[in-house]
Amino acid sequence: MEHSLKSVTAPRARTACAIVGAFEGGQLTPGARAIDEASGGQLDALARRGDLTGKPGSALVLQTPAGVGAERVVVAGLGKQGALTLKGFRDAVAAGLRAAAASAAREATLFALEWGVKDAATTLLAQHAMQVAAETAYRFDRLKSRKEEDSRGLTRVVLAAPERARAALQAAATQGAAIGAGVALARDLGNLPSNHCTPSYLAEEARRLGKRHKLSVTVLDQRHMEKLGMGALLAVTRGSAEPPRFIILEYNGAPKKHKPVVLVGKGITFDTGGISLKPASDMDEMKYDMSGAGSVLGTFEAVAAMKLPVNLVGLVPACENMPSGTATKPGDVVTSMSGQTIEILNTDAEGRLVLCDALTYAERYDPAAVIDIATLTGACVIALGHVATGLFSNRDALAAELVAAGEAAWDRVWHMPLWDDYQEQIKSPFADMANIGGRPAGSVTAACFLSRYARKYPWAHLDIAGTAWKSGRDKGSTGRPVPLLTRFVMGRAAR
Ligand code: BES
Ligand code: MN
Ligand code: ZN
Repeated sequence: MEHSLKSVTAPRARTACAIVGAFEGGQLTPGARAIDEASGGQLDALARRGDLTGKPGSALVLQTPAGVGAERVVVAGLGKQGALTLKGFRDAVAAGLRAAAASAAREATLFALEWGVKDAATTLLAQHAMQVAAETAYRFDRLKSRKEEDSRGLTRVVLAAPERARAALQAAATQGAAIGAGVALARDLGNLPSNHCTPSYLAEEARRLGKRHKLSVTVLDQRHMEKLGMGALLAVTRGSAEPPRFIILEYNGAPKKHKPVVLVGKGITFDTGGISLKPASDMDEMKYDMSGAGSVLGTFEAVAAMKLPVNLVGLVPACENMPSGTATKPGDVVTSMSGQTIEILNTDAEGRLVLCDALTYAERYDPAAVIDIATLTGACVIALGHVATGLFSNRDALAAELVAAGEAAWDRVWHMPLWDDYQEQIKSPFADMANIGGRPAGSVTAACFLSRYARKYPWAHLDIAGTAWKSGRDKGSTGRPVPLLTRFVMGRAAR
């Protein structure tokens, strides 16, 4: 998606489509008001007639309106005046852009910075507008031999912006586009099925990312994992014919003395459950079990494109979880890289097994903070649904930082407890710990397990089981939590 800024009034804009806003009750935003006046009261007339409602999600298209430079005008509904939220703003921009894209227009000029969202800076709105533009233009049709009719969409969005704040708004719009590109990469990787998106494919994608942005990318193979003693990760890959990969990305945007932030992404390219086999229904969705890994690559895409002054490390333990004659069996005891032993009571609780060795590996970076991202538990979906990502942390300040980043990015998380009381549930009579803690508080006991491998640094765990993809009619990867992680890193870069 190309983008640019332009200082122009709505009636004069020479554009394929001018997108303006109206509130319920027919109150017009300044751009809409100016178009109304230039066109001899067309918008007011449509409001009186009931065609222009201003209802949230609505988008009224006017073809070749008289008296204005635009070939089309789209009026996006903004709901009640004075009550526009960041979510309402994003939805209205999306509805306006979709209506524009459904016409023959390939370009649109967006008059959205004047809509006014309480407590939101105009720069934040510019960033969200461009991010939404990238997100609404997203298509995943690379596995179809014939592309969809509407796959062209908009190719260019012009953001109408006042001359005075131009530099800051331009920077914000570019950041929004960068986040949009990161989200698109994460969505592509999530949507790609497991016969395409293998651990080796993830490694190749990381290498391509590294070439695009001058990152250092290292890929460890199974022999190397054996040398490192990653017994937990190796226990998961045992049943699969597909070779595992441990992917390391390094972005150095700041002097060496600055401790890095480390992102660890669960990269299970398909989770059958292993010998503790999952039921057949919806098992195809376990191709999304590498979404944590996808979000790490997506965040690197965004952060590197923004050239943020931070040091960032990405770790992706990638493998398949398959049943077979060589697979790990319930009751097997393995030794993790940390030296702690694990009784694998359920081979379907594999995410924590690949993550724990990656968390131990992270120690060598002396990190400022480690954040792991994982489609870890069905229990998190029961607790928080598809709205909030589950957040667990061994530092309250880090948790608060992530909560705030999630609000600003509109990619929200909810802080869950990590009390010692829950550690009881993962006791084992045969090893240092079991890999499951029973049905109660399943997402908490999973986090408790991980916390035992993250004692040496500030750490947070994001359970994205409910937020990484959508099922049903809009089935597909969401790219979450790339916006949250990028915002978090932007905050670290600024401090
Ligand atoms: N990848 C799944 C978690 C998952 C399931 C995410 C459904 C989204 C939708 C994970 O590896 C898993 O299977 N977890 C088990 C853990 C249990 C055996 C303790 C689960 O949640 O059922
Ligand atoms: Mn599983
Ligand atoms: Zn899994």
